[in-house]
Amino acid sequence: MDMGASGRDHGRMETRDNVAAMLAEARRAEGDQLRSRDLGVLWHPCTQMAEHPDPLPLVPIRRGRGAWLEGMDGRQYLDAVSSWWTNLFGHAEPRIAAAIAAQARELEHVIFAGFTHEPAVRLAESLLRLAPPGLARVFYADNGSAAIEIALKMSFHSFLNRGQPGRTRFIALSNGYHGETLGALSMGDIPLYRRTYAPLLLTPLFAPSPDAYEALPGESAHECALRRADELEAIFAAHEGEVCALVLEPLVQCAGGMRMHDPAYLRRAREICDAHGAHLIADEIAVGFGRTGTLFACEQAGITPDLLCLSKGLTGGFLPLSAVLATAAIYDAFLDDSRERAFLHSHSYTGNPLGCAAALASLRIFETEPVLERNRVTAGRMRSSLARFQSIHMLRRSGKRG
Ligand SMILES: Cc1ncc(COP(=O)(O)O)c(C=O)c1O
Repeated sequence: MDMGASGRDHGRMETRDNVAAMLAEARRAEGDQLRSRDLGVLWHPCTQMAEHPDPLPLVPIRRGRGAWLEGMDGRQYLDAVSSWWTNLFGHAEPRIAAAIAAQARELEHVIFAGFTHEPAVRLAESLLRLAPPGLARVFYADNGSAAIEIALKMSFHSFLNRGQPGRTRFIALSNGYHGETLGALSMGDIPLYRRTYAPLLLTPLFAPSPDAYEALPGESAHECALRRADELEAIFAAHEGEVCALVLEPLVQCAGGMRMHDPAYLRRAREICDAHGAHLIADEIAVGFGRTGTLFACEQAGITPDLLCLSKGLTGGFLPLSAVLATAAIYDAFLDDSRERAFLHSHSYTGNPLGCAAALASLRIFETEPVLERNRVTAGRMRSSLARFQSIHMLRRSGKRG
């Protein structure tokens, strides 16, 4: 054996290790520096800032690839919350990234009142083609809460234009969540977010959640849904002619703890809204784009809402964009000689071309790949791996009741 060569190899390995250690140290220092610069100037969402840096250290992120985020210190984090439920196909998805870059070279933005552009029109055409049948118009905004505000205002204003000024109330579900702006927050029922601002909020009528987890002993999810729908109907009956709309998260109350209900509730809710002349607003901001196994959750109940709110996954998780899909009946209520009867709602970035291009690229992936089928296979695998924890579910359930 040539000891000289082996010694040289050993020396080379040692140098490599030293370089790697120095690089790791430099990365850590860079991360620490960013963290302290951040804490000098920023205010993070949904965060008690006093918890930073202790007990909660901020996590500086360098890049994202697929389901993984890479910390500045080189650590890998599985993005199990899909970056606040926005990401559909993984970070830095190349087709969506390329579509945004190409659009940025053509038209980054233009005022959307009085002007239009190809990505906005194409996206509206695609959304109307894919959404439950009967929706006819698309109104854009730039986040989920704004979409809820728009839906609430549209519903109220359309009744006003139709000569029903007495319809000023909304019905929302207990344990629901619809965002953080005042109107959207008003429709939510999560005390941590709502309580502080209660004096500022609208006061919807809250109907009990059809959450299957809250089924009575021996009651199926379906029976629970129907019982809750009867209670919903009683609220409508007690407020005849006062209600603009029922607003709900179809199938899953996400921020409320991923609480699920039977589609029968949605079918009955649709019938009840129709019987009482009110709108149904489906907030699919979190559950839209395949999250429940179908492209939209409403499909599983075979219903079409009057107003459908979309955001989060709309751009595959790349850019802030939201859309409210409305029926022709609602749209037509605004057509008039008077501008006051028009829907005078706007945001500077309404219909942003980059967001629309990202959304079109994301929808194209749904159209060209078996995304929903793949999700079903993954869900099946997860279900069977979780089957052995069934008893824990029962434990939690009895604990909650006990
Ligand atoms: C069901 C639902 N609606 C509305 C919103 C609000 O969306 P945004 O955070 O984009 O304002 C959320 C956000 O989590 C949501 O889950």
